[in-house]
Amino acid sequence: MIVSQATIQAVQRVARIEEVVADFVSLKKKGQNFWACCPFHHEQTPSFSVSPTKGFYKCFGCDAAGDVITFVQQIEGVSFVEAITALAQRYGIPVASAETRMQDLQAYQAKESLYMLLNLAKNYYADLLWHHPEAATVALPYLAQRAIQPAIAKKFALGYSLNSWNGFYTFAIEKGVTLERLVAAGLVVQNGTKVYDRFRGRLMFPIHNSSGQVVAFGARHMVTPAQSTSDIQSLEEAQSTGYVAVCAERRQDPTPEWPLATEVRKQSTAVDSPKYINSPETPVYQKGSLLYGLSFAKQSIKQVSNCYLVEGYTDVLAFHRAGVEQVVASAGTALTEIQIDALYRFTAKVTLVFDGDQAGMQAAVRGIDKLLTKGLEVKVILLPSGEDPDSYLRKVGVDAFNHYIHCSAQDFITFKAGFLLSVEQSPVAQAKAIREIVQSIVAIPDEIARTLFLKKCSKLFAIEEEVLVTTYRALLHKSMPVWRQKKTFATPHGRPITNPYVDPKNLPLTSKLTASIEAYEREIMRILLAYGATKVAEDKPLYTYIFLELADVAFRSTECKVLFDYCKAVAQQGGLVDMQCCLDSKEAAIRKIAIDLTASPHDISEAWVKKYGIYTMEEGQNAQRLSLEVILRLKIRLVQELIEENRAALTQALPADEEMELLKVHQLLKDSECSIAKQLGTVVVQ
Ligand code: CTP
Ligand code: MN
Repeated sequence: MIVSQATIQAVQRVARIEEVVADFVSLKKKGQNFWACCPFHHEQTPSFSVSPTKGFYKCFGCDAAGDVITFVQQIEGVSFVEAITALAQRYGIPVASAETRMQDLQAYQAKESLYMLLNLAKNYYADLLWHHPEAATVALPYLAQRAIQPAIAKKFALGYSLNSWNGFYTFAIEKGVTLERLVAAGLVVQNGTKVYDRFRGRLMFPIHNSSGQVVAFGARHMVTPAQSTSDIQSLEEAQSTGYVAVCAERRQDPTPEWPLATEVRKQSTAVDSPKYINSPETPVYQKGSLLYGLSFAKQSIKQVSNCYLVEGYTDVLAFHRAGVEQVVASAGTALTEIQIDALYRFTAKVTLVFDGDQAGMQAAVRGIDKLLTKGLEVKVILLPSGEDPDSYLRKVGVDAFNHYIHCSAQDFITFKAGFLLSVEQSPVAQAKAIREIVQSIVAIPDEIARTLFLKKCSKLFAIEEEVLVTTYRALLHKSMPVWRQKKTFATPHGRPITNPYVDPKNLPLTSKLTASIEAYEREIMRILLAYGATKVAEDKPLYTYIFLELADVAFRSTECKVLFDYCKAVAQQGGLVDMQCCLDSKEAAIRKIAIDLTASPHDISEAWVKKYGIYTMEEGQNAQRLSLEVILRLKIRLVQELIEENRAALTQALPADEEMELLKVHQLLKDSECSIAKQLGTVVVQ
């Protein structure tokens, strides 16, 4: 179905932007507007404003802006029509259909019919779980054994698929669903002439998208009754949960209208069949794009601004059983960027929960850098060896479980240090471990956080901070090309030119080639736009290094500053920084500056080419080195300017103590100049 213009207008009239936004972030009223930390990028101080009178939201940090409909689209990652429908539902506006573009209509209808069918399946499986005798002998005892109370099972809409080849198929066909749609939804498998249910004899975990619609299933293999004698014992163990009563009741009173399972067969193959079968990809479900449990976690994540990240379905259920709802699972795959982005919409703080065994920790270590790079604040909870949240909760009970997860979260450095150093203690291994930790620190986009973590790391390992900083810099520039080691450069006229950079005597440090500050700024921006997206060290794009190096520099030219801030915002939202991202900007000014910059002759590199015969042809390959060099040159110029100002002040007649102060400043600035020059020397000679 497609919504009519009237519905759209009604939604625009009735929906209140501050109410809708407040579902996702806590708004504070200041004057006419509301303010919050932006849900679309990471920030500490609120720059996200909502104007109820204008019906608009705008973030001054990342330029996200729009009306209530765009907001829903952006935050839920849904189409316009889906956003309208969701808002109409929220405000009880009847959704009227209308003609629209054929393509949209078909795509929308296809999706909508999948949602409906998957919902039908969810209800079908859930009914079976609670009412079918087969489930009463197979699935309910299992839930009891796992201490999953009925309320939790119902909250997550768990179900049971009969151990039959065509239970759901027959049911759905009778409801008028076509075979084609059943196959498209991944519920039925068509294999040549054979047609059969995908899920058979399994506990069904519906997978919901972030707005709570069922888009897929995870189906866990269940033991069949013939094999479940061992379960009967555990069933008795679990008498306190109330399941036994439920099972007994169901056994006596199976709901008659269910097609009796084609005799629950003893599955000889059951032992080999996979523990979980998941839905295949469909237009509404892409693997690695969803977080299991997010729709149930949204509110709590917002309230406590943290989210636990666990491995599986049962772990999510365990947290809910313990009364902790801010939990999601990556469910089966390594954490993907899309999942991280989905999480980021709700919180910038994540606590990873891992098994205490080696495999669990390896996974944790791998996942951390990905999260750090995205600007998330990462903590880790390590469960005792061999336990997952589910088993641990069953072992220690709700109170002890809660106590554990509240008290044993470590920051990633402490965790990584503990893990890496526990493995081996030789100095070489230790050095490697430290490098790995520093590597994670390098991944953090926030300069201040990085500095603090370096400090912490230095304390933890009793290593001087300076040593760490050296490692840190080395990692940062690891993949710098060695082109400058070349003794000569070939020229088009055949006469090779000596590479001036090889001999430190020739270093064009300060006296030669000083350009104006604005020229350096322009050059930095030019390199950023031309090569920003180029992958450099650690497979990171060049722009991450440029941002890092410029963290303590404020641009002087307004043009460059505007453009630079824009690029930063693009990166913060996970976009690629290059010329294209500027051309895609909605702001004409940004587009214009970007074009001007790259179109105008770039003074510095031209000068270098002239003086040293270094060809711009090579520039692309050397972009990282080049950018660092220009940045350091800019920094030196900035310091030199301060030295000049200070010197000018010193020429005035001054009281002795003031003069003393200025002399001290002079010394500090000189030190700073010297240290940048040294660095520049390393960069250039290396
Ligand atoms: N998983 C999967 N396919 C598999 C195995 C696992 O999709 N063949 C996913 C599921 O989402 C599962 C998660 O990985 O929940 C964690 O796996 P595992 O720990 O083996 O399963 P649990 O559901 O946690 O069950 P339990 O630990 O109780 O055996
Ligand atoms: Mn598990």
